[in-house]
Amino acid sequence: MDQAIVQKLLQKAGEARKNAYAVYSGYTVGAAVLAESGEIYGGCNVENASYGLTMCAERNAVFAAVAAGERKLCAVLIVGPPDGEKPYPCGACRQVLAEFAEEPGMPVLVAAPDGTCEEYRLDELLPYSFQL
Ligand code: THU
Repeated sequence: MDQAIVQKLLQKAGEARKNAYAVYSGYTVGAAVLAESGEIYGGCNVENASYGLTMCAERNAVFAAVAAGERKLCAVLIVGPPDGEKPYPCGACRQVLAEFAEEPGMPVLVAAPDGTCEEYRLDELLPYSFQL
């Protein structure tokens, strides 16, 4: 991916991670999605005392974009904490990303706060996504 865009996504996701509400797991996540319009939207994980109600950072970023009127997403970057496991998107988030990805091979970047990234295609992380 274009490195200038990756830097912008890292910046936005890092800012969002500061707002993560992760009082139960302690695992803070930030995400940023690049929409077709060129705008970038951020999200963080928001946990709940009823654990199953927790919402992941990347789904919150997708929903922020959709709420702003976007319908097609071109890339997503997810950043986790410096000392934890890498934040590979969960299965539910992969399906939500597939709903709005402008192409099946949309780039999905999994990052550490120091900026090191692994880049995947959405369709390698979720082959045969459900579509109507
Ligand atoms: N989490 C995310 O926000 N995104 C991911 O890609 C993986 C998991 C959150 C959910 C929960 O708040 C915490 O990380 C631990 O599972």
